[in-house]
Amino acid sequence: MRLLVLDGRLALETRLPGERDLAHALDVSRTTVTAAYDALRRHGYAASRQGSGTWTTLPASAAGSAGSSWAPFGPDGSDRLDLAHAAPEAPTRALRDVYAAALEQLPRHLPTSGYHLFGLPELRAAIAATFTERGLPTTPEQVLVTAGTQQAFSLVLSAVVDPGDRVLIDHPTYPNAIDALRRASARPVPVPLTSDGWDVDAVAAALRQTAPRLAYLIPDFHNPTGLLADQPTRAALATALTRSRTVTVVDETNVDLALDADVPAPLACHLPGASTVTIGGTSKSIWGGLRVGWARADTQTIRRLAAARATMDISSPVVEQLAAAEALHRRPDLLPATLAELRLRRDALVSALNRQVPQWHVRVPSGGLVLWCDTGLAVSSRLVAAGERYGLRLAAGPRFGVDGAFERRLRLPYTHPVDVLENAAGLVAQAFRTATAMPSAPEPPVDTFA
Ligand SMILES: Cc1ncc(COP(=O)(O)O)c(C=O)c1O
Repeated sequence: MRLLVLDGRLALETRLPGERDLAHALDVSRTTVTAAYDALRRHGYAASRQGSGTWTTLPASAAGSAGSSWAPFGPDGSDRLDLAHAAPEAPTRALRDVYAAALEQLPRHLPTSGYHLFGLPELRAAIAATFTERGLPTTPEQVLVTAGTQQAFSLVLSAVVDPGDRVLIDHPTYPNAIDALRRASARPVPVPLTSDGWDVDAVAAALRQTAPRLAYLIPDFHNPTGLLADQPTRAALATALTRSRTVTVVDETNVDLALDADVPAPLACHLPGASTVTIGGTSKSIWGGLRVGWARADTQTIRRLAAARATMDISSPVVEQLAAAEALHRRPDLLPATLAELRLRRDALVSALNRQVPQWHVRVPSGGLVLWCDTGLAVSSRLVAAGERYGLRLAAGPRFGVDGAFERRLRLPYTHPVDVLENAAGLVAQAFRTATAMPSAPEPPVDTFA
């Protein structure tokens, strides 16, 4: 339960079963359950009140570094090395220039209200131009600027999905997307990815058998597998999705991070305009802190998404939008250095893991930010717990799936500098040895949380 709380798979303030019921369900003695609940309370993972039962909590020292959701990203106030999130640092000098240029343009906007429900016109035009360049003709009216890709996905859910609707997902997939589905009370329909990528027959069968309201796919350097759908796969996926008239969300968050691959034309090129929303943003290719994303769809859908947005958030900050437009214009100059550095980091982490844990199977992705490691043993959650002892913050495989799948997997980002990654690989290997030597229930990391 401690692992599930730390990992965000068991929400905070979840009521735990009564001791008698749990003892019965697990076929253990009541004393064992009482002792386990006592241990959880002692280490800050549970609280009880007479008459109100027992519920999950976090120890004060862990609050802010883990919780019921995937957030917060980035520096978490602890001194653990964050290998749980996959977001590179900003290209500092280039971004400073981008913001300086944005500030120079700001005076033009000061006499206006500064509210732009659909987004700043120059940013919508810049985003539309990048789609057009990639072979998907797009007008600024087909673009809604959002506060990141994740917000774009949440808007689609709120505009399209009703509680109980099925949503087809790649399996594994991006954890915040799974959380957003849960929050929308949607039912995920996971379709396994194979080691080669999308099994189009399995997708077509799932579409036929479950008639999902929506499909959510990440065809470009998929998170967490790093897979890239090739052109024939895109065409075949599109045929199945079109035939079943499924509204499709194409998440292109990582599309710019091609390390050694040519990215085919956007999946949306093959799909009907009226039922396709392509989402993306500047987080991975420029900087997560910019918080600029977008949705691209037909104008009617964009209006629906904007109406959904207006209920929670009426406009993005003008300076950030000016900076994003500027960064998009400068992207041809900015990206090569980012990609060259990521290539070095990816190769360094792969080599270090091959040395440190040769028994793992680590596929080298042709783009994106992460390695989806097969540890060969179902120990991922224990590995995350052991990682704390070695100063690591890790993301367990099951975070990327539904129903506890992927216990053999660990996602490792190569977003840190090479020397940090080489050191991290050694620590991960030590944590792996500790995890595999553990009895079935690991002790709480007393040194960290006591
Ligand atoms: C597939 C995928 N979608 C969405 C996001 C969220 O992106 P943003 O920071 O633009 O909200 C991420 C970030 O890791 C991602 O990998």
